Amino acid sequence: MIILGIETSCDETALSIVNAKGEIGDTKSLAFEVYADEVMSQIAIHKQYGGVFPIIAKREHGLALVPLLKVVLQKAGMLKDKDRILNNDLRIKKENNINTNAGLDSHFHGNDNTGKNDTLEEKIRAILSRENNLGEELVVFLQTIKKPKIDAIAVTRGPGLEPALWVGISFAKALSLAWGIPVIPTNHMEGHIVSALSNHLKMPVLNAPVATKNAPEMSFPALALLVSGGHTELVLVKGWTDYEIVGKTLDDAVGEAFDKVARMLDLPYPGGPEISKLAESERKISPTVSRLEVKFPRPMIHSKDFNFSFSGLKTSVLYFIKKLEKLDDEMKAKIAREFEDTVVEVLMYKTKKVQEEVGAESIIVGGGVSANKEIRKAFENWTEENNLKLFIPSAKLSTDNALMIAMAGYIRYKSGKIENINDLDFRAQGNLNLEE
Ligand code: KG4
Ligand code: ZN
Repeated sequence: MIILGIETSCDETALSIVNAKGEIGDTKSLAFEVYADEVMSQIAIHKQYGGVFPIIAKREHGLALVPLLKVVLQKAGMLKDKDRILNNDLRIKKENNINTNAGLDSHFHGNDNTGKNDTLEEKIRAILSRENNLGEELVVFLQTIKKPKIDAIAVTRGPGLEPALWVGISFAKALSLAWGIPVIPTNHMEGHIVSALSNHLKMPVLNAPVATKNAPEMSFPALALLVSGGHTELVLVKGWTDYEIVGKTLDDAVGEAFDKVARMLDLPYPGGPEISKLAESERKISPTVSRLEVKFPRPMIHSKDFNFSFSGLKTSVLYFIKKLEKLDDEMKAKIAREFEDTVVEVLMYKTKKVQEEVGAESIIVGGGVSANKEIRKAFENWTEENNLKLFIPSAKLSTDNALMIAMAGYIRYKSGKIENINDLDFRAQGNLNLEE
């Protein structure tokens, strides 16, 4: 099944084309042949403001989607010159089962003010009417190509920034109408979990090198630690699409804490990689012990549950900085290192605690923060010493991408949990939960 993956939940616009095969009841049989995998980051734009503004993210997704679609189709070999046609009519399959009106209704939030959705071109423009010039740009592009050999579209439905999510969702619905193929609404966090299957990727040369150690096979229940800009969760993976959240942050996500502490240290957005770089430079000077005169608190480490809290840690860093006479580069590096040590210790402590309780042998680490080298090292050491299987995707696959969305979409499709695959009546859901 060839799937076009679309991801626009935050500050990366990403598209992928993946040929997915196999059965979810037999993990070994799953295989994902990557035809194309592209990410266009908005970081340079958001850097100027020190964080992500949803309205700017939405605008940038709108500008990036059609150019990216051309690139992935080209890379997948689906835009061969001999196939290119110039035609005033969209190459649209009218004999499809898609519930078009439902799609339009959900887009307009019940307020269809165009009054004329007769032709498919008009429908596409109408679906994308809130996205500046995107509808027009898409119609013009679609007029120049044949329908590619794509069977379905997987799009991130949530969690994320709703204005940003809507761009990808409306784009997916428009393509669905144009090509007569279904859309699989996909959970972004499920994408981060499914990235653990990176040893099932074929053609990893496409910028997504395999990093799963010793390519072990996943066994259930698995335990996933998801750490990103918006989430910090410990998830019991009982089987594909069967999740139970056993612990989560009560306030800030760990990526958010990295980003906020980075701001206190005058480092650019996103802060995670910047803090990590500084901490690494400090570790070269003092490999084993932190040279900072204070130890930041290890939040929630003594709590009986599996929840996290990072806002107290953030405040401790802030108070410490406020009391300083000067914040020079050496001091910044010492703070970054002590902060990173604290985060690693807390994440490891809670994950170990759950693992002991549930006895999971497969450990998954996913989400943007899992690109962090110290976190990766800590998990590698722990799992090696305890004979556990570690699934941690390459840094490239840890941060947001559309490959994971195509993979998660396939798994969701195969689970049979989608009631009506041809139903386009779904909305962006900023706080979508993994247990839903
Ligand atoms: O999963 P992701 O790409 O986007 C969300 O879904 O949120 O995660 C982004 C987060 C940001 O907070 C960023 O600072 C953090 O991941 N991050 C890191 C590193 N690389 C990215 N945090 C710590 N160390 C890193 N190397
Ligand atoms: Zn993410």
